[in-house]
Amino acid sequence: LKFVCYSNDSIDEHMMCLIGLKNIFARQLPNMPKEYIVRLLMDRKHKSVMVLRGNLVVGGITYRPYHSQKFGEIAFCAITADEQVKGYGTRLMNHLKQHARDVDGLTHFLTYADNNAVGYFVKQGFTKEIYLEKDVWHGFIKDYDGGLLMECKIDPKLPYTD
Ligand code: ACO
Repeated sequence: LKFVCYSNDSIDEHMMCLIGLKNIFARQLPNMPKEYIVRLLMDRKHKSVMVLRGNLVVGGITYRPYHSQKFGEIAFCAITADEQVKGYGTRLMNHLKQHARDVDGLTHFLTYADNNAVGYFVKQGFTKEIYLEKDVWHGFIKDYDGGLLMECKIDPKLPYTD
């Protein structure tokens, strides 16, 4: 198992992984229009942390770092159907937190969680209470109805991965 972070940089191997992740998101997030998934995945302001087995994508999280406000917005998160509830979602989130803190300098994440995924996000340290000042994020992140806005503080020191 390997964890990587790629964005649309025209490198063949990275593009193949982004397409694999797009297929997982399209299947696992049926309420999201496919064109919207492709648009954000391929948008150069977005990054995707992925879990790979060999060169097969098992799952991933696509996010947009807002560097000056030090928070990241998680747009999509999914693990392929036959690999769910094996702990990969948790390991993926830990790699995301480590990368976002150490590479992007972020302190928080925000996401609109689907109702059926709220339990997963709670286990990853997300809360329904939003502690960030509203003017830090309001107007930056996309309003999305049908989801619950949740926040996670990234620990400044904790080693999230081994
Ligand atoms: N509801 C409640 N708890 C959950 C859920 C859920 N939907 N999914 C996992 N958990 C729990 C697990 O039971 C586990 O608990 P434990 O540590 O007590 O055993 C813990 O969360 C972590 O489970 P993992 O095995 O690490 O999670 P998994 O690899 O299955 O990944 C994920 C979780 C990403 C939600 C996956 O199930 C999935 O792809 N679901 C379908 C797509 C989806 O709903 N994505 C999120 C949409 S919201 C968004 O994208 C912003």
